[in-house]
Amino acid sequence: MYHDKDVEDKRPEVILALDVDNRKQAEKIIQATGDKLQWVKVGLQSYLRDGADLVRTIADSGKKVFLDLKLHDIPNTMAKAIESLSELPIGMLTLHAHAGEEALQRCAQTGKEVLPETLILAVTVLTSMDQSALSAVGVRSPVLEQVERLARLATRSEVGGIVCSPHELVHLRTCLSPETKMITPGIRPAGSDLGDQRRIMTPAEAKLAGADYLVIGRPILAAKAPGLALDSILAEIKG
Ligand code: C5P
Repeated sequence: MYHDKDVEDKRPEVILALDVDNRKQAEKIIQATGDKLQWVKVGLQSYLRDGADLVRTIADSGKKVFLDLKLHDIPNTMAKAIESLSELPIGMLTLHAHAGEEALQRCAQTGKEVLPETLILAVTVLTSMDQSALSAVGVRSPVLEQVERLARLATRSEVGGIVCSPHELVHLRTCLSPETKMITPGIRPAGSDLGDQRRIMTPAEAKLAGADYLVIGRPILAAKAPGLALDSILAEIKG
């Protein structure tokens, strides 16, 4: 049974989105955040450039890797892609829920077999998309309805967690099992630049809404002192 108090007591972990222009910058930022940070997200920008070697370097430094490849293809190709990652030390891996139920089921099953320690996550609606962006790709449902539809599809397929905007957290907690991990990007400390993000919240608000993990990139990466920016985000979450 899920209680409001559980939400208040829970403190989400911060995942640093390592979206940087080169390997040197990646290593510098990992060093600057030191022991304060357990999780680093390697997305397409860094993975396509630095590949498996970057993933191993981060894991060797004692941090956990969230490999954000957002796989989206036919079921067989997605499952085979997961098999190709089986030698890598990854703690989380993303797929697009839009790939459909068969693809998600195949991926969840393959994940259990070849990456048993890895949490497989389904991305619902990207946090950069608002209602008009969603309508422009032909989805007529309200954002929240579409996110719920995809989240239910993902959990039915036995995917371990979902990625959504912080605005959907409270609602999704009412319809998903408490075991489902909720990961939210679109986090912006008060006063920081939105960039291309649309459905955003501050770290403190996302904590109250019940997030398990907050994915944060540019508010830390673009800060003059990334270590201090992280400190202030962590203090906000703790407070
Ligand atoms: O810099 P920023 O904090 O906006 O970074 C957010 C990160 O989360 C990016 O790496 C982006 O690819 C990722 N992401 C997202 N929205 C999703 C899923 C992942 O912004 N729905």
